[in-house]
Amino acid sequence: MKIIVLGSSAGGGFPQWNCNCSNCDRMRRGTLKAKARTQSSIAVSADGENWLLINASPDILAQIRATPALQPGRQPRDSGIAAVLLIDAQVDHVTGLLMLREGKPIPLYCTASVWDDLTTGLPLVPVLSHYCGVQWHPLPIRQNHMEPIELAGIDGIRITPLALLSKAPPYSPHRENPHPGDNIGLMIENRATGKKVFYAPGLGEIEPHVEAAMRSADCLLVDGTFWSADEMIRLGFSTKYAADMGHLPQSGPGGMIECLDSMDAGRKILIHINNTNPILDEDSEQHATLLRHGIEIAHDGMEITL
Ligand code: MLT
Ligand code: MN
Ligand code: ZN
Repeated sequence: MKIIVLGSSAGGGFPQWNCNCSNCDRMRRGTLKAKARTQSSIAVSADGENWLLINASPDILAQIRATPALQPGRQPRDSGIAAVLLIDAQVDHVTGLLMLREGKPIPLYCTASVWDDLTTGLPLVPVLSHYCGVQWHPLPIRQNHMEPIELAGIDGIRITPLALLSKAPPYSPHRENPHPGDNIGLMIENRATGKKVFYAPGLGEIEPHVEAAMRSADCLLVDGTFWSADEMIRLGFSTKYAADMGHLPQSGPGGMIECLDSMDAGRKILIHINNTNPILDEDSEQHATLLRHGIEIAHDGMEITL
């Protein structure tokens, strides 16, 4: 089973179009040792031919161009993307669906909450019905037990969706009124080897069922949005703490580093990294701290084989 990180950044990408934070500014000037990153998405396949696109980023066209496996030449019009799965209805995870409109009807796996947002507040589904159309496959929500499902056309892989505490998008009626299924994490398992990766780019709180899932995973690909809880406030960009946006920061007591330190997974990787996060600066103390803790930082094009 192979996982390709198509986009390792949070919403806005890195550098962000209008941002002059120290990272974005220095990146544009060429004085920062860092990699540019596109918005949040991964692709997974067991046969190397049929890929499950997990989240459809606004940067999807550039991501497909950079990923030959997603653009096979088997017929006059072709794609390696056999199905799409959404973990929430955030703008950075769903707007790329519009870019797939020239293709066949899109097999779309998402929860009822996400489907609701995409048929009302951000009506991508009704819009797409005038182009390729979308075939919805409702994802069940698990809280207290693991029951993997198989996805049509994606052989060799089993997926368990897990309800998470994070945040529905700002436009959603669920933003301040959370429902199970607004945000999910995924256990993705290679059926042949039993190896598992836990993927959760938006993880606001590590509840017991999430911790149990993380403990049983061979690889963790988890929320790397913010280094500190008040990162956006200190920079004057927002009045919201990381938790208000559904993200657990890396530093501090109860933070992601502490959590990952207590886990035995063979690989621990942060993904969905906001452009303000000091870990993007490869010369920073924070970057070095992660490496000392055995934590990797996802980058676009990163491949994970399990
Ligand atoms: C988030 O996860 O909080 C986002 O990256 C928000 C966004 O897409 O604007
Ligand atoms: Mn996001
Ligand atoms: Zn920035």
